[in-house]
Formats: sequence, structure tokens, C-alpha cells
Amino acid sequence: MSPGRAERLRELGLWPVWRLTEQRPSAARSSDLAVGCATAHAQPPTPDTLDWTDLLATVAACTRCGLHQGRTQSVPGTGDRNADWLLVGEAPGAEEDRLGEPFVGQAGKLLDAMLAAIGQRRGNNVYIANVLKCRPAGNRDPDPHEVAACLPYLKRQIDLIRPRIILALGRFAAQSLLRTDTPIGRLRGRVHDYLGVPLVVTYHPAYLLRNPADKAKVWEDLVLARRTLSQAGPG
Ligand code: URA
Repeated sequence: MSPGRAERLRELGLWPVWRLTEQRPSAARSSDLAVGCATAHAQPPTPDTLDWTDLLATVAACTRCGLHQGRTQSVPGTGDRNADWLLVGEAPGAEEDRLGEPFVGQAGKLLDAMLAAIGQRRGNNVYIANVLKCRPAGNRDPDPHEVAACLPYLKRQIDLIRPRIILALGRFAAQSLLRTDTPIGRLRGRVHDYLGVPLVVTYHPAYLLRNPADKAKVWEDLVLARRTLSQAGPG
């Protein structure tokens, strides 16, 4: 479904269609099982069966959290849908919100340079996304409710892309994905697992702009990620 059609249906109150996402074996009553109408028991639609077209339309029309009220547009992600590399940042900033693409400002340029250092480039074998698809106003930290509402979209992107390595960019992405409050310094330097995909943590490019001395550490992280990928053998 196109984003425009989704928007129109939503304005008419006809979309998203409420959908039963889980069987509730013993407690389910017949009224719980009605598909296509909102009941007290209906769950918001989960994206876990959507194809790319419907996923992008759903993200474009999403109202799962309050961030939709302040967005110009959602920023689902960009790149090669068959990528080995998935890079995950925090959330769109003002420029990303305006243009609909992640990492377009100075931090994006540095991210492109980081990719070039390992022989990769945006859009080719690389997909770039964020934990949050909409911009938190004033660059405040996302709150846990927003993360919980948005994470199913990233999970579905991972299912569809099937990346072979995930690079978590910055403390927020790393802690959100790994569900921990361990400081980023202690999450770096080893290979984690996220939904069965190896995950390496590194500093956010915006942090690196402020702390260029840490570029050497980012290089170590990139080398670790590249080595992890090559040790996994051909995809
Ligand atoms: N910072 C992020 O984490 N993501 C973006 O898309 C831009 C800046």
C-alpha cells in the first residue's frame, strides 16, 4: 500500500486494520477472535508479517507513540535490502526529519567516511536505520515507551534484510537493542547477538565529531565487525 493511500485510509478511520496477532489458546473467547474490528482485546497491528511496501506504508502512517505529532515524516531507513551490513543509529534529527533519510548531516558524512574505511558505501551492501523512526523534538533522549512502540519495525526490517552483521551506533542504539544499561565503553570490543545476528557496538558518529580522538577506537570496532563477518564465511 502506498504511504498516501495509508494516510487517506487513516484519515477516514479505516486503517490500520486491527488484526489478531496472537492466538490466546485457553482464554480466548469467540469475540476476541474477531478480525477486522477494534475490540477491547485487539492488539495494534504488528509488522511481523509485512512486506517492504506495507512496512514502509505502516511506518509512514504510524501513530503508535506521540512522536508522530511532531514529525514532518517518518524516516524508516535506507539502503540495500539485501545488505550484509545493517547500521543502527538512535533516531532522526531535524535534517533527517525534513528529508526522510537517516544520517544526512555532518554525522552522516562521517558515517560515510567510516564505511569507506572498510570498503563499504551507503546503499551498496549496507542498510542504515534507526531505533526510532520519528524525530524526538529538541534532540531529547527517546523514552522507553517510544522504543517499545517502534522496535517491532526494526525487527521486521532485520527479518526482511537478513543482515550478517549489525553495527550499533552509539550508546542509545546499543543499550536499546541489547536491553542493558551497561556503559558503551564496556559493550564495545566484543561480539553480541541480536535476533541471531552478530552485533558490534561502536560510538555514534555525532559523538565522534565532538571527540575525534576516539576515531581509533571506532576503527577497532569496524575491524572487529569486518572480521566477524568474514569469519562467518560466505552468506
Ligand atoms: N543520528 C542518528 O542516530 N540517526 C540519524 O538518522 C541521524 C542522526
